[in-house]
Amino acid sequence: MAAGKQKWSFVVAANRLPVRRVWEGDTAQWVPSPGGLVSALRPVMSGNPDAVWAGWTGVPGPGTEPFEVDGFQCHPVGVSQGELQLFYEGFSNATLWPLFHDALVPPEYHRTWWDAYRTVNQRYAATVADLAAPGATVWIHDYHLLLVPGLLRAARPDLRIGFFLHIPFPARELYIRLPWRAEIIDGLLGADLIGLQTPLGADNFCRAVNRITGAKTTGRVIQHNGRTSQAGAFPIGIDTDRIAGLAADPAVQARAAEIHETLGSPRTVLLGVDRLDYTKGIEVRLRAFRELLAEGRLSVDDCVLVQIAEPSRSQVTGYAEVRREVEQMVGDVNGNFGVMGRPVVHYLHQSQPIEELVAMYLIADIMLVTPLRDGMNLVAKEYVASRPDNTGVLVLSEFTGAAQELRTAELINPHDIESLKTAMEAAAHRTGADTVPAMRAMRRVVRSNTAQRWAERFLARLEACE
Ligand code: F6P
Repeated sequence: MAAGKQKWSFVVAANRLPVRRVWEGDTAQWVPSPGGLVSALRPVMSGNPDAVWAGWTGVPGPGTEPFEVDGFQCHPVGVSQGELQLFYEGFSNATLWPLFHDALVPPEYHRTWWDAYRTVNQRYAATVADLAAPGATVWIHDYHLLLVPGLLRAARPDLRIGFFLHIPFPARELYIRLPWRAEIIDGLLGADLIGLQTPLGADNFCRAVNRITGAKTTGRVIQHNGRTSQAGAFPIGIDTDRIAGLAADPAVQARAAEIHETLGSPRTVLLGVDRLDYTKGIEVRLRAFRELLAEGRLSVDDCVLVQIAEPSRSQVTGYAEVRREVEQMVGDVNGNFGVMGRPVVHYLHQSQPIEELVAMYLIADIMLVTPLRDGMNLVAKEYVASRPDNTGVLVLSEFTGAAQELRTAELINPHDIESLKTAMEAAAHRTGADTVPAMRAMRRVVRSNTAQRWAERFLARLEACE
């Protein structure tokens, strides 16, 4: 069934649709969008005849006809080439993204970017207002659409509106640098429920609201302009059953064995899987690895590092630079420590299907998740879900949302290279059996907070909002 002019009782809006359009020569196909949102929402969206997803196809141009793919009803929202530069690459990814990630690169503030951001947010709000049935529930996602709750509330006061921020909400001292800080807070307060990844994120948000609007906040209940909104921490999970199913799949296991052999059957495989982003700390872990090899604390005879870096936002400031730095370090480590036919770092700047990633998780003795800042980091959770024998070490940055839940990971400060090196060296010298209690505890956490439970918890709280 096509979405058509139908009205829907559940509407999701996100920058991207669950699928994006990819052209290979003359042939176009839909491939899953990057990130964890699709698997998180699949249980409440896919096959649900009352639900529609509004978003961008990944191709600049006017919105196309609604369509159905993989059980999702999709309603494309058009984003022009100019808006792509100003709204997506500009305000979303060169203003908000760095600011909300502790200003790891300096955020840029441009009025033309802000104008385009407002225009695209107005378009999303108008689209959702048109799609939503009377009294419908709407769930808006992430930093690209911070104004939509307020715009939608003004157009459709009958709706129940939830918003979830997938990235960190920064400390108030950082947030208040934003020239449009008040407009964005007003936008968010159009929602009945504002979900953040962590309790710290929820507290940061409430402090910013308090400072900017003077609104009364009791706990995380906010009274502003005659309306009540609530903020809350809802740490997102993964589709644990799907990942565990893949880890148990004989074809994936055979592929894992094949990859291990291709790598030279090393005693220890270290793995990193990230979007190629300056927040992820890829260069930090490469530097630590290089120093450990140089100091003879790890040996090329028995260690291999595999780094998957998914191409991302290559037109945005900071991304080309981190790519250069990472690739220069990979070359440096291999040039200095590799042996003929056997590089010590295997680096792929390509996105990989989930089956291939799970095959890699299966052979990774050590998983390196070392972001300088990250809202959650679902790769950490996917690794844990892929370890049915309860072995393996997760080296995890304290500055990820995941570190709040996976307390038995090897928690490190990525700014402290010595602590990272110590954790990597210790992990390489542990036997599988040593790693079991910590991994078992993490697996309990990942099994109990799945993507499905996350969505159910958020939506139940949203339905309970007065
Ligand atoms: O982490 C924030 C986020 O929007 C994710 O939801 C998504 O996985 C990722 O960034 C993808 O980024 P982009 O849409 O810019 O490719």
